Order: sequence, then structure tokens, then C-alpha cells
Amino acid sequence: MRWPDLPVGLFLFVFAATPWVLPVARAQQTSDAPAAGNTEKGKKLFVNYGCYECHGRQGQGAAQTGATRVGPPQLSLEGFQSYVRKPTNQMPPYTAKAVSDRDLADIYAFLKTIPMPPKGKDIPLLNQ
Ligand code: HEC
Repeated sequence: MRWPDLPVGLFLFVFAATPWVLPVARAQQTSDAPAAGNTEKGKKLFVNYGCYECHGRQGQGAAQTGATRVGPPQLSLEGFQSYVRKPTNQMPPYTAKAVSDRDLADIYAFLKTIPMPPKGKDIPLLNQ
């Protein structure tokens, strides 16, 4: 009656130990890259949170809403986050409850992928 207990004990040991190992591995992964936002997620959040309604789908800004260009952002991530939390003018504030820092980092990462539009002097048709 003794030997069948050994595999069962081993089995339980492995399963009991696994959940403790995985979160540690995951925590180490995230602490290695804290500021790297997820651009794909950020693109969806930019729409879901309604940023696009005033800033346009590419963050290009819009004369009708007075919203400035935010793609690519001219602010640092910290500046970006604090502006969204406490805008100084027309923009409605988004508290940390409404949009988490994590989500803002993803939105920021998405906006960073948007190229600056070319300057007028760099467009041949406008310089003939
Ligand atoms: C109701 C319209 C509206 C919505 C929705 C909106 N914004 Fe704005 N945003 C503005 C306007 C207008 C400005 C120009 C400054 C001002 O009036 O506050 C602005 C400015 C900004 C700026 C400052 C840009 C700079 O370089 O100074 C950032 C960053 C920004 N918005 C990000 C966001 C993000 C991220 C969201 C979504 C979570 C969002 N906005 C949603 C209207 C809006």
C-alpha cells in the first residue's frame, strides 16, 4: 500500500508548486519592460474611450472640436498622462478610475506609431 502513494504525492507536489512559480516568472517579465505599451490594444482603447471622436482616428486633431494633434504625441508619457488627468482647457478630464495608467500607456504606444505628416516644403506638388 505504500508505493502508489509516492506518484500521487509527487503529482500533488508538482501541481501545488506550479502556481507559485508562474506569477513570479510573470512579475519578472513585466518589471523588465514597464513603459512598453501594447500598440494594438492602444489603438482599440483610443476608439473605445472616445479619444478619436475629438482627436480623429489617427490622432490628427480636428478643427471642428479644437482637439490638437496627439499622434505622434509631442509630450513625454508622464506629461501625456497628467494632461489627460487634468486638461487645462476644453478637453474633458479622464480620472484614473475612468482610464487606468496602463491603458494610457497603451494609447500612448499606439499614438507613437503614427508618423508626423510631411511638411509643405517636402511635398513636390506644392513647390512648383
Ligand atoms: C470632447 C473632446 C475630446 C475628447 C473626447 C478627448 N480630447 Fe484630448 N483634447 C481635446 C482638446 C479640445 C484639446 C486641446 C487642448 C484643450 O482644449 O484642452 C485636447 C488635448 C489633448 C492632449 C494635449 C496635446 C498636447 O500636445 O498638448 C492630449 C495628450 C490629449 N488631448 C489626449 C486625449 C486622450 C488620450 C483622449 C482619450 C482618453 C482624449 N484626449 C479625449 C479634446 C478631447
